[in-house]
Amino acid sequence: MAKKYNFQSASFPYLGSKIRQSSTLASYVDPERHKVLISPFAGGCSFELFAKHKLGLKIVSNDWSLISYVAQKALLENNQVKIELNDIYSLFRPVKHNGFVKENYSRYMLDEVCEFLDTATENIRQMPEGYKKFLLSHLIVYYILHILPYGKFGCVADIREVREKGLVEAMDKATLSSDSRCSKLLKSVQPPLVILKKLAEKINAGVTNNNKTNIAYCNDVFEFLPKTKEFGYEAVMMADAPYAESTSYSMYDAFSEILLGKKIPKSNSAFNSKEVEEWFDKFFQECQHIDLWLLTYGAKVGEPDALHSAKFLEMVKKHRPKARLLKLENFSWSINSLSGKSPKECEEFIVIAEK
Ligand SMILES: C[S@@+](CC[C@H](N)C(=O)[O-])C[C@H]1O[C@@H](n2cnc3c(N)ncnc32)[C@H](O)[C@@H]1O
Repeated sequence: MAKKYNFQSASFPYLGSKIRQSSTLASYVDPERHKVLISPFAGGCSFELFAKHKLGLKIVSNDWSLISYVAQKALLENNQVKIELNDIYSLFRPVKHNGFVKENYSRYMLDEVCEFLDTATENIRQMPEGYKKFLLSHLIVYYILHILPYGKFGCVADIREVREKGLVEAMDKATLSSDSRCSKLLKSVQPPLVILKKLAEKINAGVTNNNKTNIAYCNDVFEFLPKTKEFGYEAVMMADAPYAESTSYSMYDAFSEILLGKKIPKSNSAFNSKEVEEWFDKFFQECQHIDLWLLTYGAKVGEPDALHSAKFLEMVKKHRPKARLLKLENFSWSINSLSGKSPKECEEFIVIAEK
């Protein structure tokens, strides 16, 4: 099991997180040579945070998802600012809001929680631009993930039960289905302040000064890559694209909507489309200026059309003939733990591709 450092709890559990693979990935970085990490699909920032804390690299990161951008700004770009108690209290300041959360998400969360989120996000939206705003937005996303069963907007049964039969009966029922659902329900009835204080401590442990000007973007990957042209020889790229046919990251759109207080169009990645091989080909062409590529990928075993390791390696070798493959053992996809599938049904690997 990979070592868990305190700073690694600063980021919430994210679908497809590479937290457990971070030290393996880091072992390919040559700190004498590589000074910059380029990350086009940063997601929950697991490896990026590792590279900032343990390798001291300058981080140039990107993800088109707002919740990832908020995490990148708060934890990667920000070198100094932390969440203070007064910042947490400011989330509760009575303010006129549009009731967006209550109107759209009350099937998943108790009325008190919806009211808190409507108030807190309106307060954040009214804050001046700066790292405090990103830190508090990150805190709110973390809080929601912390109280939702399975960390996503999906389960409505427990909240319905609380409304219809009261908390005690709802808890009894949730306990029968799973301990984790029961513990989530308990968290969602706790006053938010208690949870926010604990989560803020975790987030603060992730803020460190690497004495570099880190840069976070919120672009489509093909808009982002040209901006990294100035970092070539001294750069390493960790690219963790969504796996073909995998669960769409649009499940996180709800979190972005809550931060924004309005609906947003659904995102659908080219890397989840049928033309995934062509998109990767274009992607590899756009990354040629970067010295070392660390590409993480995975596929379901036994699915003939999936992008398996041999095929993926072949695709990379077209651009980087020296590319090699490392298959990862004993990993588990978070999505599998949720669905009860055995990790053996999936393969996960890293392709290491030097110039
Ligand atoms: C596998 S996840 C990255 C997980 C991350 N390595 C971690 O440890 O949390 C893939 C990410 O790619 C992002 N993404 C998908 N298509 C994209 C695109 N066209 N441009 C930018 N980001 C994209 C998704 O929003 C998602 O966060």
